[in-house]
Amino acid sequence: MSDLNPILSGSAQSIAAYQEAIEQSTQAVVQWLKQPEMYQGKTVAELRERINLEFTSQGLGNQAAIERAVEYFLKDSLSVHHPQCVAHLHCPSLVISQAAEVLINATNQSMDSWDQSPSATIIEMKLIEWLRAQVGYPAGDAGVFTSGGTQSNLMGLMLARDAFFARQGHSVQQHGLTGNLSKIKVLCSENAHFSVQKNMALMGLGYQSVTLVKTDAFSRMDVNDLAQKLAEAKANGEQVMAIVATAGTTDAGAIDPLADIAALAAEQQIWVHVDAAWGGALLLSEKYRHFLNGLELADSVTLDFHKQFFQTISCGAFLLKDARHYQLMRYQAAYLNSDFDEEQGVPNLVSKSLQTTRRFDALKLWMGLEALGKKQYAEIIDNGVTLAQQVAQFVAEQPQLELVMQPQLASVLFRFRPEKGDTASVALLNQRIGDALLASGSANVGVTEADGVTCLKLTLLNPTVCLEDVKVLLASVVACGQQLQNA
Ligand SMILES: Cc1ncc(COP(=O)(O)O)c(C=O)c1O
Repeated sequence: MSDLNPILSGSAQSIAAYQEAIEQSTQAVVQWLKQPEMYQGKTVAELRERINLEFTSQGLGNQAAIERAVEYFLKDSLSVHHPQCVAHLHCPSLVISQAAEVLINATNQSMDSWDQSPSATIIEMKLIEWLRAQVGYPAGDAGVFTSGGTQSNLMGLMLARDAFFARQGHSVQQHGLTGNLSKIKVLCSENAHFSVQKNMALMGLGYQSVTLVKTDAFSRMDVNDLAQKLAEAKANGEQVMAIVATAGTTDAGAIDPLADIAALAAEQQIWVHVDAAWGGALLLSEKYRHFLNGLELADSVTLDFHKQFFQTISCGAFLLKDARHYQLMRYQAAYLNSDFDEEQGVPNLVSKSLQTTRRFDALKLWMGLEALGKKQYAEIIDNGVTLAQQVAQFVAEQPQLELVMQPQLASVLFRFRPEKGDTASVALLNQRIGDALLASGSANVGVTEADGVTCLKLTLLNPTVCLEDVKVLLASVVACGQQLQNA
């Protein structure tokens, strides 16, 4: 073994190397955090040209590898904590989440079996029990941490599909899909996350299986249209395996009428999955918790902590109301979750997850909850929702801006409105404003569509951002719009 032992262990040499590497990295992060720019503004072509792997025969050593990562990755990273970085559901992270990452990474526990993650398994199970209680689910530990909303939605849809077939006496797990698959449908709103479509395709049912339900003026699922689509499905000989409701659509932050949807679904014994990837943050809110009324009626729920819970990526969870449905994805591997171990009461989380090897992301939320406490966590979540309302009011008062929709969570949809211009040219202008601001490195504003028309989006998750910061950003949107218009 060379002198330079690269493996983390208890040897004095390894510990010294670890401390040096971590110290060098944290020093670099501190410098990066102090960088005033949101982004240094390099183009795709420039970054492609600049960034190259140096995989040499002798290796560069830790110090040089870190220096190169600082130069080629860190300096040109997007400052997600910057007050003008508001394009996406992409949060700045809690300091305690960073500390948790140090522990998670150094211990490298794997959540698939108890003998690879003893204390971590218990912590994750207790956290799932706690999350279920917040949702209003019966006591239990059916649920698991996931890589995020896409995976949690996949779990909800997959179990819904398999429960649907199981009711007809067929095991998808054993025998695969059967019958006239073109007749099996999932209903979700026009504004549901695209992972519904992607997951249905992945599950062998295709995009064609997704029936879109109309939305109201606030992007929420229209329950009258849902009732109609259910009736039409029946009339066409189609079978609805699930309804996916959204609590916090990606752009408008709309929360579908959860209780009404659950009531309609119950009439026909249809599985309801609620994608609360964003809106689930309101579980901790003091002011807005009631927006989630009816969440407890869902058969399964997606939560995401790398959105408005301010955890580092990845950190999500899937909750399953009735633990018996986990049987539908049960697989026993002698080396991980044997009968013998289960009879002894040894817990294992591989049976609850699509993943085998899995990070201990639950620790971040656990430490976040402990460090911040209920009041502070509620404050930083509520801040974004309240700020969005203030920003919307300000936008509505600006002659050159147009508010597209009243905010519901922490996003504001709006447009730069030139004095003249048809819909297509206004759309293009707004797209170009978003691109120009990012290219300048000064701001990252979302560009999206509302009712098919291009608009700009501010996603105001960052609790350190105040109305004055947003006014500065809006002034640069207007200035940029005017400049582009006159060019
Ligand atoms: C409503 C909603 N659901 C699901 C997802 C997917 O989550 P993830 O990116 O964690 O997979 C997103 C992502 O923004 C989302 O907005």
